[in-house]
Amino acid sequence: MDERELPCRALYLAARLALIALATLAIAPAAALSETATPVNPPAAHDLRFLPVPVLGAVGGDFFTVTCRTNVAVAVTLTATNAKAPGAKRELADQPALVHRFRMDRLDPAGQWSYVLSARTPSVVVATDPTPVRLISPGTALRFVTLGDSKKNVKDWAAVTARVAATRPDLVVHLGDMTEHGEEQKMWDKQFFGPAAARELLASTPVYAVKGNHEDNSPLFDDFFCNPTAEGCPAAWSQELNGVLLVGLDGAADWSPQGKSYPWLERTLDGSRARFVFIFTHYPGLTSSRHGKLDSEGEPSEHNVRQTYDHIYPLARKFNVTALVAGHEHCYERSELPGLTQVTTGAAGASRRQRSPDWEKQNPYSKVFASSLNFGLFEVNGDTCTMTAFNQNGRALDHKQWKARALP
Ligand SMILES: [Fe+2]
Repeated sequence: MDERELPCRALYLAARLALIALATLAIAPAAALSETATPVNPPAAHDLRFLPVPVLGAVGGDFFTVTCRTNVAVAVTLTATNAKAPGAKRELADQPALVHRFRMDRLDPAGQWSYVLSARTPSVVVATDPTPVRLISPGTALRFVTLGDSKKNVKDWAAVTARVAATRPDLVVHLGDMTEHGEEQKMWDKQFFGPAAARELLASTPVYAVKGNHEDNSPLFDDFFCNPTAEGCPAAWSQELNGVLLVGLDGAADWSPQGKSYPWLERTLDGSRARFVFIFTHYPGLTSSRHGKLDSEGEPSEHNVRQTYDHIYPLARKFNVTALVAGHEHCYERSELPGLTQVTTGAAGASRRQRSPDWEKQNPYSKVFASSLNFGLFEVNGDTCTMTAFNQNGRALDHKQWKARALP
């Protein structure tokens, strides 16, 4: 997203939120209105505040992105400060809106950066606490966490996010199903942004996101996340960081070779010389639990799971992808398919699941399975990548190492 586009983007978001508010008023019963995120009587300007919480998005060697919300449609200013060059500040300001998105670029890669968001009305000024931002220094090791399916168990989500924060990753990939119902603002506020540990992680660690089935294709997804794309928010994205290609898929898209997404993925993989390639999607192609049920011909019966099985697996094998990382199934599972590793880190708060009675038929490639809260920590250093899966208490569930791939 070009900085020059920010005013247009802000006006667009304000207009869209206004339309959503009008639609809600038109169709919702009066009793439900007080429970929606769209107040009948908007807050007065003197009640101005930031809603929980700013969310850091895509980051690189010289840029970072962040989104935030205010309860009153006001302009917000993003200020980035470099502790190594006191007094030298960078600022961006948008137009009055409820949702705010920023990309701060051309930063000194060697700087020690932090950011503050501020807003004002004639009667009040509010600002977020200064929050450090770590850029991705070129040539250094890359450490990222994968997790998914946070959903409704807020205490569990808090435990996982606290443990993730303690590992100090460069970024976190959320594999989808952030809440029970992604079209409901109150679900995001209560569940995803509910625990203090989650709010702290989201505001201080870049979060890359893919959509799950529980996001319900809600436009709220685009309000919270800033993925590495030209437009800043679509659900399919890619970015190469220090020799590691990260690719996020919109699992709900048509992934058949006849669709628009397949050629995009094929071009993205074909054009990369990265040492390691990871595909992130909500949907595993094979799984030992409830989403892996087979049809009468012995193949996955669930549509989006079948798409991964039929279309993503072959591309991943063709281009020697390091691993496909999925959520959806509320467990940890590593599967060693012919020519491809699949890792499922899908229980960051959702109710855990066991293997199905006929799991060996569903997923004959399953090597490690754990029905526990979990996340994966990937560490790429030179020509080696290690992955350790942890539970919420920091106990290791699995360990895997890859060498840099042979280029196809
Ligand atoms: Fe799901």
